[in-house]
Amino acid sequence: EKGGYDYFMLKEIAEQPKAVADTLLGRIDEAGRLALDEVHIPDHVLREVNKVVIVACGTAYHAGMIAKYAIEHWTRVPCETELASEFRYRDPILDQRTLVIAISQSGETMDTLMALRHAREQGAKVLAICNTNGSTIPRESDAVLYTHAGPEVAVASTKAFLTQLVACYLVALYLGQVRGTKWGDEIGSVIRELSQIATEVDKVLGTMEPVRELARSLADKNTVLFLGRHVGFPVALEGALKLKELAYMHAEGFAAGELKHGPIALIEDDLPVVVVVPSPRGRSVLHDKIVSNIQEIRARGARTIVIAEEGDDTVVPYADHLVRIPATPTLLQPLVATVPLQVFACELATARGNEVDQPRNLAKSVTVE
Ligand code: F6R
Repeated sequence: EKGGYDYFMLKEIAEQPKAVADTLLGRIDEAGRLALDEVHIPDHVLREVNKVVIVACGTAYHAGMIAKYAIEHWTRVPCETELASEFRYRDPILDQRTLVIAISQSGETMDTLMALRHAREQGAKVLAICNTNGSTIPRESDAVLYTHAGPEVAVASTKAFLTQLVACYLVALYLGQVRGTKWGDEIGSVIRELSQIATEVDKVLGTMEPVRELARSLADKNTVLFLGRHVGFPVALEGALKLKELAYMHAEGFAAGELKHGPIALIEDDLPVVVVVPSPRGRSVLHDKIVSNIQEIRARGARTIVIAEEGDDTVVPYADHLVRIPATPTLLQPLVATVPLQVFACELATARGNEVDQPRNLAKSVTVE
């Protein structure tokens, strides 16, 4: 049932282009507009929404962090993303005009379930983004948008994460469509790019051998750091989480802008640092800032592993290892930038002799708080 792969995780990484395509299937109509009738929250309710709150745990939380950038940019509705386990205990401000989005692969995560129950008690509408049909979280929500990743067996989430991102983009674009905000050229072109993105994910998968080789060469390291800005920041957190849970290594993700506020003190000779570089097109300020971050850490001896768009040559002089990803709009980049980090963690775990599908101390679905 592993379909010829050594581990479910490898199979699930390879299934990502299909998972992404399946999650988009039937949800964009011929005119290039979102058709999300399955979200049974009436348009007039969505038009009244004045705040979006996303709750989730672990990898799903990282998807939610990325969604915040997309929702605020495309809809201009304030959005916050919070760990489900923190949310309910701080007496959050919610009312009928709050849309809460609960993201969960399993649909059974207790922290996320308790967060959404609390939200509904305060009168908020809850939309679940979930991969498991008929599970508790969608059953207790006002509406659900299913991700179509298929069953995810490996404990470490991969294809579910990519489909959570797709679902978040769909919800963000749909909110924009219903509310008429920023519904113009940019949104139209994002939808076109989104419908092509499975092919781009597939391209990334075809170029992963050097990443595997690099991972094997780092098997004796104790620490790996990850840096990103904007949507690259949650991608960095996700890369670090995968490495912790699979390779049992000390791995941390930082917002690159925070370097000078502390983390740069960690940089020492030959320390591997993975940097996610945003597209130089569009938001070039972001790009230039991160290039100077790479220079700074390299000057202090870091071994830089740079994930950058094809054709971005500015990073070449500062990259000890360069991983190329296809050009995408900035907000969609996590769909391609996360894949090398999954492969990296999986290969490092294998090189260290760890059980990839069943990391120690972890369960696939966490049904206790
Ligand atoms: C990490 C991982 C976990 C889950 C988290 C939430 O690879 O799999 O961090 O993402 O436990 O699980 P769900 O999405 O089932 O609520």
